[in-house]
This record gives sequence, structure tokens and C-alpha cells, in this order.
Amino acid sequence: MKFWKFSSSVLATLLAVVSVQASGPAEGDAVADPNSAVVKLTAETYKQFLDENPLVLAEYFAPWCGYCKMLGPEYAKAANSLNETNPNIKLAQIDCTEEEELCRDQGIRGYPTLKVVSNGAYADYDGPRDAAGIANYMVKQSLPAVQVPADADALTAAIEEQTKPYVIQVGASTDSDAASAYEQVAKANRNDYSFFSVEEPALVKELNTKFTNVKVTGKSPSYYVVHPGQLDDVREFEGKDINADTLTSFVTTEVVPYFGDINRDTYLTYMGSPLPLGYYFYNTAEQRAAFADEFSKLGKQYRGKINFVGLDATQFGKHAESINMDPAIVPLFAIQDTPNNKKYGVNQKENPEGPSLKTIKQFVADYLDDKLTPIVKSEDLPTEEEKKANPVVKLVGHNHNEIIEDVSKDIFVKYYAPWCGHCKKMAPIWEELASVFGSNKDDAKVVVADIDHTNNDVVLPFEIEGYPTLVLYPANGEVDEKTGLRKPVVFSGARELDAFIDFVKENGALGVDGHVLKAAQDKAAAEAAPEEEEEAAEEVKEEAAEDEDVEHDEL
Ligand SMILES: *[C@@H]1O[C@H](CO)[C@@H](O)[C@H](O)[C@H]1NC(C)=O
Repeated sequence: MKFWKFSSSVLATLLAVVSVQASGPAEGDAVADPNSAVVKLTAETYKQFLDENPLVLAEYFAPWCGYCKMLGPEYAKAANSLNETNPNIKLAQIDCTEEEELCRDQGIRGYPTLKVVSNGAYADYDGPRDAAGIANYMVKQSLPAVQVPADADALTAAIEEQTKPYVIQVGASTDSDAASAYEQVAKANRNDYSFFSVEEPALVKELNTKFTNVKVTGKSPSYYVVHPGQLDDVREFEGKDINADTLTSFVTTEVVPYFGDINRDTYLTYMGSPLPLGYYFYNTAEQRAAFADEFSKLGKQYRGKINFVGLDATQFGKHAESINMDPAIVPLFAIQDTPNNKKYGVNQKENPEGPSLKTIKQFVADYLDDKLTPIVKSEDLPTEEEKKANPVVKLVGHNHNEIIEDVSKDIFVKYYAPWCGHCKKMAPIWEELASVFGSNKDDAKVVVADIDHTNNDVVLPFEIEGYPTLVLYPANGEVDEKTGLRKPVVFSGARELDAFIDFVKENGALGVDGHVLKAAQDKAAAEAAPEEEEEAAEEVKEEAAEDEDVEHDEL
């Protein structure tokens, strides 16, 4: 999941942008209607209110914020409907422009922030932002994580009600470890899926009349993921060890449909799965329909190896760029190996009308046989002239690993983004640092380098969480097996020349002291300086002479 973060955040951003455009500018009032059931909290009332109410949704907001205005009326509606149906669930608002200290204590960084406070315990709210969605989400929070249907009718009703994949445990009463593992998984995923437990023989029998592709015995704990309306394709847990990890992995693999669309509602599901994604970008419903059945078959065939998704390019087509494909040529098919951040695509120039099914199937088979070469996004390699002119060694997608793999050197790299202000600000210091070590010379022991991380694909042994990220690969350092690169040391001090030099001296394996190098350079410069001064003096004299000339002329 960790490696996902960078690439998936691109899609998340894309989806978020689209959703704002689709729903138009905010019109409502951020402050909920005072006649609604929303409770306004202040520093005086806050603590007591949370002590007295077991389940509260708290919105921390600012009256001027656009998203808060969008939410305000929906929030009031949700509060009113809960007041009718579940009066124990409260919705509260805290105006952070009036309650600055309270919001600071709560660590509020953006508006609106929503938190579920359940018996004093805080959790981030990650549910929908419309009235019905908010109310449903909160009702779910009030129910046990694992639901136990009372009788066959209740079981049938529950199954018919589901609109998303759900999970059923059968026969765990004799195995308390298994039951508590299930409870744990249910608690962690309750906002995404419903979890049921079935014990009674009558209910087990009922399940057997419903499920047509699996036989439920109920003798030992067994687990099923069911997609709504697909009782002929129930997925059964086949692992030997039952624990929270194996059950989580079963659930996150099986809740994904064989072929579904990736969009705002589903991308979290796909992000939760560690598998590569095979994308089919389409522009029309016909294009999607023509391939959907075959993709479902592929999804079934390659279950546990690749997730296949459709992507509506009229909405999210720009995502093609982040998987190194051309958004202008759709349909397209590409595979994103998200855990390793590698991208593979069917050649678009050779398939301007979109790839055929046959081509796609062959491509998938070749991918799994490890026969494909990833598409590496890279800027051009620097020319010899550019290398001489720039004290900082420029890394790009094509040379990054080759340079980092030279284990005889301490290599200090700045991973940056072109739009990042802090990166620009520190650029002159980075150049000075590179000059101190003579990094652009072949015999340099310390290589100070940089790379535009947004325009060059690199697979790193650590996660980039912001720009700039500064790391030092020490000479002969321990090698990370997955990437073949050395495990780096991350710099987190003040971005100043002295601090950088100290860092290299302390963490580099070669112990190069930049202060000594710099002192020598400064001394050499100072020795050269008197000559410069003489030259400067001469210039002044000349100017003075010219002035005299002018004066003479005037005379
Ligand atoms: C909440 O429900 C109670 C009981 O039905 C009702 O008396 C009250 O007016 C409701 N409050 C709001 C703000 O709707």
C-alpha cells in the first residue's frame, strides 16, 4: 500500500478536481440553519457535549470556505433526519474563526474537517458529503461491526439490501481466535463493507439454498465475499491460517470486481489492493460494452494477479499522462504495476483506433511472463557542455540508476518538483554545495545531484512524501534488494550550506570534509583577489581620466 501513495495520489487529485467542476461552485451557507438539529459548539460547551453524547460527528469549519458552504445545507438535513431516526447520534459544528484555540488543539489544518467522536475516541470521517450519505454512515457507526442476522428472513433481507460487496463468516463460534480476527477486520473496514456472521444451522442451510457455486458446511470457520446479485460467484477463503492479515488480504482481493470502472467511488477499493492495474481507457459506452465481457473473463482468469478496470477517458483521460500514455489516443490499454511504480502500455501509434482484444490478451500474457519493457518517462540526458556548465549533476530517468549505482561515491540527491517554491529557494545553495565538492568532475568523491521527480520515472528504496526530498546514498552502503539501490540517509535539517556539509561529513562513508575543501577554495580565491583589486583600481583611474577628458571638453 505504501508504494501506491505517490501514483494513486495523482488519480485522487484528478478525481477530486473533476468532482468540484461537476458539482459547480458552492452556494449554500457554511453555518448550518440555526433551526436545524446541528449543535453549535464553543470552547465552553465542547468537552461536556462530547462527554454526554456517545456518538458525535464534529465539523470544524470556516464560514468563508467553499467546501464548507457546499456541506452546510446537507449537514443540517442529515442532522434533522438523524434527530428523527437515531436521536442518540448528534451532528455538531465548530466555527474555527471563532474558536481558534479549540481548533488548534484539535490539530485542524483544513476546512471542513470532519471527525467521528465515539465515546471520546476520535476518528477521521471519510464518508460521503451528502445528507443521506452522512446519515447512513453515522448509523453504521452506531451498529456493531459484525452483524448477526436473527433468523432466515433477516438474513435474506440483509443480503437483498446490500449494494456493495459484503463479507460473511460462517461457524466461528468454536474458534475464538478466528472470531476475534474477523471482528478486528470488520472494525477496520466497516465503513467500506458490511460484515455478517452466521452460526445457526437453519441459517447455514439458508445460505446453501442461495449460494450456487460453493457449499457452506458451517463445521469450521469459513469466509465468503459476495458481490450483490452474484450468488453464483461467491468467493471463498481458501487460506489455512485464519488471522487478521490473511482475512484482510482475502477481503481486499475479492471485493474488487473482475472488471469494474475506476472512478471517485471505487478508486479507494483499487488502492486497497496491492495488485497491478490493467486499464482500458474508453471514450464511449459502446467501446466499453464491446470489451466488458472479455475483460470480466480475463479478470477471473488472472484473479490475484491483475485487476482490470475501465476508465472513462471523457472524464479522467488526463490520468493517461501519469501512466506514460498519450491521452489523445483512446481507446488504450496499459498496465500500471503500482507496487513497483512501473508502467507498460500497448503501442498507441501502432493501434490508433485502440488495441484489439487479441493484442490485449497477448500483452497481458507477455506482461505476466515478464517479457515487456516498462515505459520510462525521462528528460533528455544532459550534454557534455551542460555537464561542464552545471556544478550539480543532473539526473534523469535514463541515468538515475546508473549514477546512483556507483557505490564508490557518496551521492547526495535532491528530488524536486519544478513548481516547488522551497526547491527553487535552495537551488543556489545546492549549486554552491556541488561546487565545494567539485561534483561535476569525474574524480569527485561526493556527488551532489538533483532530479525533477515529476518528469522522470525512478524506482526508489524509500517513499517521497514532499519536495524537496534530500537523501544521501553513502559509498558502499547496504543495498536494498527490491530496487538494487543503496539504502539512503534522509536529510531533515536546516537547508543551509554548513548543515549540508556537516551532514555529508557525518553520514557519508568517505568522511569528506567540505569545510576543509571550502576553506581551501576561499583561500585560493582570496590570494587571487589582490590582482582583481588592482584591476579594479585601474578601471577607476581610467574612468576618472575619462571624466577629466569630459571636463576638458567642456572647457
Ligand atoms: C428533534 O426531534 C425531537 C423529537 O422528535 C423534536 O421535538 C425536535 O423538534 C427535533 N429537533 C429539531 C431541531 O428538528
